[in-house]
Amino acid sequence: MKIQSKYPNPFFTTCDIPDAFFCDREEETDKLRRMVTGGNNVLLVSPRRMGKSGLIHHLFNQEDISSKYYTFFVDIYATGSLDEFIQKLGREIVTKLSGKGFDAVAGFLRALTSLKGEFSIDPSTGMPSFSIGIGEIKHPQTTIDEIFNYLEDADKPCIVAIDEFQQIANYEQKNVEAVLRSKIQMMRNTAFIFSGSERSILSQMFFSHSRPFYQSTSMISLEPIGRSVYVPFAQKLFEIYGKQIASKAIEDTYDLLQGYTFFIQRTMNEAFSLLPAEEKCDTAFAFACIDGIISTNDGLYKEIMASLTPNQRALMASIAKEGTAFNIMSEDFAARNGLGSVSSIQSSVRALLKKQLITKGLDKEYYLDDKFMELWLIRQYGYSPSFRLDQNRLRTRTN
Ligand SMILES: Nc1ncnc2c1ncn2[C@@H]1O[C@H](COP(=O)(O)OP(=O)(O)OP(=O)(O)O)[C@@H](O)[C@H]1O
Ligand SMILES: [Mg+2]
Repeated sequence: MKIQSKYPNPFFTTCDIPDAFFCDREEETDKLRRMVTGGNNVLLVSPRRMGKSGLIHHLFNQEDISSKYYTFFVDIYATGSLDEFIQKLGREIVTKLSGKGFDAVAGFLRALTSLKGEFSIDPSTGMPSFSIGIGEIKHPQTTIDEIFNYLEDADKPCIVAIDEFQQIANYEQKNVEAVLRSKIQMMRNTAFIFSGSERSILSQMFFSHSRPFYQSTSMISLEPIGRSVYVPFAQKLFEIYGKQIASKAIEDTYDLLQGYTFFIQRTMNEAFSLLPAEEKCDTAFAFACIDGIISTNDGLYKEIMASLTPNQRALMASIAKEGTAFNIMSEDFAARNGLGSVSSIQSSVRALLKKQLITKGLDKEYYLDDKFMELWLIRQYGYSPSFRLDQNRLRTRTN
């Protein structure tokens, strides 16, 4: 089958991307590979939507890894307790083992003696299933030990990726970090990748003396894909599919969206699908695609803004305007943006962080996670996107 008909759009907006459509990350993949195959645990951090989950899947899809290791990927974003963590991990292991047949799954479930009698056969697959309700995990610490022991005894080494790991810090039970750490540090057959976007929470977890995971991993900080790498990548994908795009259009899109992978890919995905045959995508066309995407989200953004206080709204707009905002708790930032007192900024920051509308970086800088919402805000408050382009160019020149 021709690649064009199997994948009608070469710009993937999911995180498990076939190799041919995955942009670069060669150094990062090698580094991650070297660490985990050398038995080290890794902390992988980046702002949201930069490509952490994609990088982990990419590594797991490589032949040398998939043939020699059992790999597991657990996203714990939506979990709130060790019980839910166990459910996610258990289900992932069962899903992976089902490829090896009934006995493999049954063998795993039998190893979980603390859950005895809690399993059933899934009538649709005929496989034993891990349909454990929350109340049914009576001894979570024992169950987690059993799961990890099972991985330790596997006939191949294992790599377990726990995505959105910062979530552990929000669990009500406060000893979960300690429980996991004490087990994980003893494991020899299993390497862990912890990944997440909340740098300040993760750096507390991994780099503060008093926390169980203190200095237990090496860290990889995932930066934007380089512009000089992304531009030819995107241009080639257009070409392979018989379409055309000016490199300037990709460069301008990259700059406008500050290198944030998902937002650029989403724009290219849209431009690719809307570009009329025989036309060449230029900057105006790419930006019109961004406008289109932003207007689809208009209702949602309005709703979010309506749920905020006037102070919080004003702060959102000020951060959006600056792109990455430094020293926001200063008189200077307050005066520059007409934000009133520093203490009111502090309480707005807390509220916006809690609502996950903004993120705090390691240098106490703040930015919006959603770069499309950022552009929407810039426009709502009377700036034009070219303002941002000029600002970026200015920054590049002065850096
Ligand atoms: N190397 C890549 N090549 C092409 N597209 C990519 C690449 N990495 C990421 N993307 C794009 O960016 C999107 C976001 O990637 P991913 O989900 O891996 O980010 P993330 O850092 O895990 O985000 P979050 O913090 O929200 O979980 C993907 O859906 C895909 O569209
Ligand atoms: Mg992710």
